[in-house]
Amino acid sequence: AVTLQENAMGFCGVDGTIDSNNAGYTGSGFANTTNVSGSGIRWNLNAAGGEYLLEWRYANGADTRPAEVRVNGSTVAAVDFLSTGAWDSWAAASASIFLGEGENRIELSATGDAGLANIDSLTV
Ligand code: GCU
Repeated sequence: AVTLQENAMGFCGVDGTIDSNNAGYTGSGFANTTNVSGSGIRWNLNAAGGEYLLEWRYANGADTRPAEVRVNGSTVAAVDFLSTGAWDSWAAASASIFLGEGENRIELSATGDAGLANIDSLTV
């Protein structure tokens, strides 16, 4: 498995900021997207082709924050980021999706007005 974090080799784009004000993240921070529907995070991933488990490490001190997963522009899954009770309490949410051989552009996009939960990393 490979874990992608908030650096040049990991997250390829964040509609928001990389923050470090809530403890318990790994690396140098976490992605805090803008609190609007449609805000997201993008990753580029080279795959061998097949079914992959995508697991996000996240924190959500508010109500459930729903999102959809897009691969190369097509929506392929929905993921609910349930409350973790506090912004410094971290948990995992996952989706099993098909990735084609070669480069895949993966996007996690908020479908609720509050934006995404705070995302620490993506493990594939
Ligand atoms: C708090 C928290 C942020 C979080 C935000 C939100 O301000 O500290 O990290 O992103 O709530 O509601 O999205």
